[in-house]
Amino acid sequence: MKLLLINGPNLNLLGTREPATYGHSTLADVERLAAAEAARLGAELAVFQSNHEGALVDRIQAARAEGVAGIVINAGAYTHTSVALRDALAGAALPFVEIHISNVHAREAFRHRSHLSDLAAGVIVGFGVDGYRLAVQGLLAKLATR
Ligand code: DQA
Repeated sequence: MKLLLINGPNLNLLGTREPATYGHSTLADVERLAAAEAARLGAELAVFQSNHEGALVDRIQAARAEGVAGIVINAGAYTHTSVALRDALAGAALPFVEIHISNVHAREAFRHRSHLSDLAAGVIVGFGVDGYRLAVQGLLAKLATR
């Protein structure tokens, strides 16, 4: 079972970016912890990060052809703005879990709206980077019921 973890803009700066909000773990730490959780549960996890909307769209489009079973995505700020990412996820027709490190609902109003949530198999917010582990677990549980 192949899963794909996608991180969007500015998440390459995890560890140094606003640590009071996002913590001290780096993107490499997050990718390692998510891959370890996938492996523990008998799955493989590929990882991808980009600051560019089109590159994220391209990666989502490619996932289906590669036989990816499901996606964990932290689309960062594009969550709140990108119809293109929404359309890519809808087009791929793969189950996905949306994750946010911070509790977006306790932050600015513009972060309360997601273009992805209503298409998601599940949404995880506010658990810090541990949310990536929970997202992998939740996605695999959803896939097991299909
Ligand atoms: C984020 C929340 C977004 O609002 C923000 O733009 C991010 C990170 C999170 O993980 O909490 O880049 O997705």
